[in-house]
Amino acid sequence: MPVGLPDFYQPPTNPITEEKLKLGRKLFFDKDLSADRTVSCASCHDPEKSWTNGRRFGVGVGGKQGTRNVPSLINVAYFKQLFWDGRSGSLERQALMPLLNADEMAMSSQAAVLQRLQEKTEYHELFGKAFADGITITNLTQALACYERTILSGNAPYDRYMAGDKQAMSEAALRGMKVFSGRGKCSGCHVEPKFIDSSFYNLGVGMDVENPDLGRYHVFQMESAKGKFKTPTLRDVARTAPYMHDGSVNTLMEVVEIYDKGGIPNRYLSVEVRRKLNLTEQEKKDLVVFMKEGLTSPDGAKP
Ligand code: HEC
Ligand code: HEC
Repeated sequence: MPVGLPDFYQPPTNPITEEKLKLGRKLFFDKDLSADRTVSCASCHDPEKSWTNGRRFGVGVGGKQGTRNVPSLINVAYFKQLFWDGRSGSLERQALMPLLNADEMAMSSQAAVLQRLQEKTEYHELFGKAFADGITITNLTQALACYERTILSGNAPYDRYMAGDKQAMSEAALRGMKVFSGRGKCSGCHVEPKFIDSSFYNLGVGMDVENPDLGRYHVFQMESAKGKFKTPTLRDVARTAPYMHDGSVNTLMEVVEIYDKGGIPNRYLSVEVRRKLNLTEQEKKDLVVFMKEGLTSPDGAKP
């Protein structure tokens, strides 16, 4: 485990094995699992771009654009709910969705996916080694989930500082860390050491368009769920611009400005962000330095 990261939950029905990881890695990078054989999971979750795509939205088969920003997959093992609106509860259940999503990999059916797997002798071998019953959809989702659980990024200056290396962070980053858990109230939701809280909030981002994405409301049809999105991790966040569920914010300083103003006004704005922070320019800068320097792992998560 990288320095600073706690253990993660592994479902008893799908423990990680070397054989599953080998298969999961192959599946993750395989473009033949998309309708026109041009898109793999890694097309949008590119390890070179910290497991996202560096664009505002996902781009799938035929250049089709989605409507949400691609979340990085680093430390995805820690999430209890997946997607910006939390509509999937496990990596196993999530794994098939992009394959069949018309805007992403656009396979027509599970049978079509199985056929692509069966085409390759390599898969007969890899599935055979990883699972007693060989090539099945369940086994595909299990192997992908195992692989995703190993996309771990820790060992950031923050982690080394917390582990006792008092030289690991600069003065500015240390000041920023104080603002983060103090006047900035960031750690109320981006809870250390994972910098998530498995919860959902409305910051007002994207609420000012005609038909706003209502986020959590798609899962729970309650007024109080409108415009709420999952708290994303801030680890390696300097590498994953643009930001927010709609990729509408380009820099970390702009993100800080949103919180400083008490979120973006709308009917459903979460109470937790409503109070203006009134940070000084120096505090804002330090906060950005803390995120950029303190939370960026030197090695990131390797494929
Ligand atoms: C066309 C781009 C695209 C492709 C291809 C793609 N994804 Fe994604 N992925 C996204 C977007 C966009 C989201 C966020 C969607 C949402 O929240 O509604 C996402 C979300 C996720 C999440 C949830 C992360 C979180 O923080 O909640 C996981 C896990 C994931 N994808 C895994 C995969 C796997 C595995 C594959 C391949 C089988 C894959 N993705 C293929 C664009 C893509
Ligand atoms: C009330 C909970 C809450 C608090 C407090 C909070 N955040 Fe967030 N943060 C979120 C949520 C939820 C999102 C995603 C919102 C969206 O996409 O609409 C987010 C998104 C972000 C992002 C974008 C990350 C990405 O990958 O897109 C950054 C950066 C960020 N927050 C930094 C901060 C900082 C710095 C503070 C303190 C000044 C802070 N947050 C306080 C809940 C919170």
